[in-house]
Amino acid sequence: MVKIADIELPDFPLLLAPMEDVSDPPFRALCKEQGADVVYTEFISSEGLIRDAAKSTMKLDIYEKERPVGIQIFGANLDSMLEAVDIVEKSNPDIIDINFGCPVKKVVSKGAGAGILKDVCLMESLTAEIVKRTKLPVTVKTRLGWDHDSIKIVEVAERLQDVGCKAISIHGRTRAQMYKGNADWKPIAEVKNNPRMHIPVFGNGDVNTPERAVEMRDKYGLDGAMIGRATIGNPWFFKQVKHYFKTGEHLPPITLEERVEAAKRHLQMAIDWKGEKLGVFETRRHYTNYFKGIPHFKEYRMKMVTSDDSKDVFAAFDEVLENFKDYQFVS
Ligand SMILES: Cc1cc2nc3c(=O)[nH]c(=O)nc-3n(C[C@H](O)[C@H](O)[C@H](O)COP(=O)(O)O)c2cc1C
Repeated sequence: MVKIADIELPDFPLLLAPMEDVSDPPFRALCKEQGADVVYTEFISSEGLIRDAAKSTMKLDIYEKERPVGIQIFGANLDSMLEAVDIVEKSNPDIIDINFGCPVKKVVSKGAGAGILKDVCLMESLTAEIVKRTKLPVTVKTRLGWDHDSIKIVEVAERLQDVGCKAISIHGRTRAQMYKGNADWKPIAEVKNNPRMHIPVFGNGDVNTPERAVEMRDKYGLDGAMIGRATIGNPWFFKQVKHYFKTGEHLPPITLEERVEAAKRHLQMAIDWKGEKLGVFETRRHYTNYFKGIPHFKEYRMKMVTSDDSKDVFAAFDEVLENFKDYQFVS
């Protein structure tokens, strides 16, 4: 069993990675149903939260059914982050996660996200103060380091643990790599193999097949996998990995009926959450992923993404179901 503070998780838990514009409540709910053991929100700006910016506060919404859920915040200013922690606590998540890994310029230039990897002392002190501020378990998500020449993730992880961080998820790339090249899991295994480490060490980056998840577990000996891109349009990935763990075999490809069902439920949950207009609008980006592979999907996609009326979108789903009954998906 793996534990984040008092939260008990199965052996080698699978975590849905925080993903801006992807891991909103409807998507998290779908992933949870398909076997995600922990889900994380999109990252939330602590500055946005304390200014009560609608975009940030909306991201605080969580549902009972998705627990355990972590709310992720980012920032670089201690006072703002502490104030943000107080706001986050009111939403009563199971975990507060700090983003020390986002590589985008807009975030890094303010010293937040992966920007903090240039100042490990600040990273440590921010974590320490946030831990002191809240009764909730605090976890950290980060990268291997700023660049190849400055990787000291073993030391960083130990220092974060020592100030009370309850689990660490490490993306096996540096900030300089952005998303290029392959994630390197060796340094993450070094963190795990440090005899002083006792908190869970989760690996992240390029877990895109069940085989890769097995490799992360068996070859690298990590405590669990945090999975991002492989779940986009494929919340079934969690179930596929768990089935493979249990049987050594792959599940049959997800059927068209399952895909249409998921798309419909996603849209309905989004409407229930945000109302018709926003729900229809914000679910649009997911359709291409759900129906990846269908020939000439563009024609149907246009119908799904041009109407503001959910009835038209639901009708387009039914049309796909009707017209591609015999289409064989590959995964
Ligand atoms: C669309 C997208 C949005 C992301 N947003 C966040 C975010 O809000 N917070 C965060 O810590 N990481 C974010 N990430 C990084 C992922 O959590 C993850 O670390 C990265 O994609 C590598 O894992 P993967 O190979 O399983 O996708 C994002 C990644 C993508 C693709």
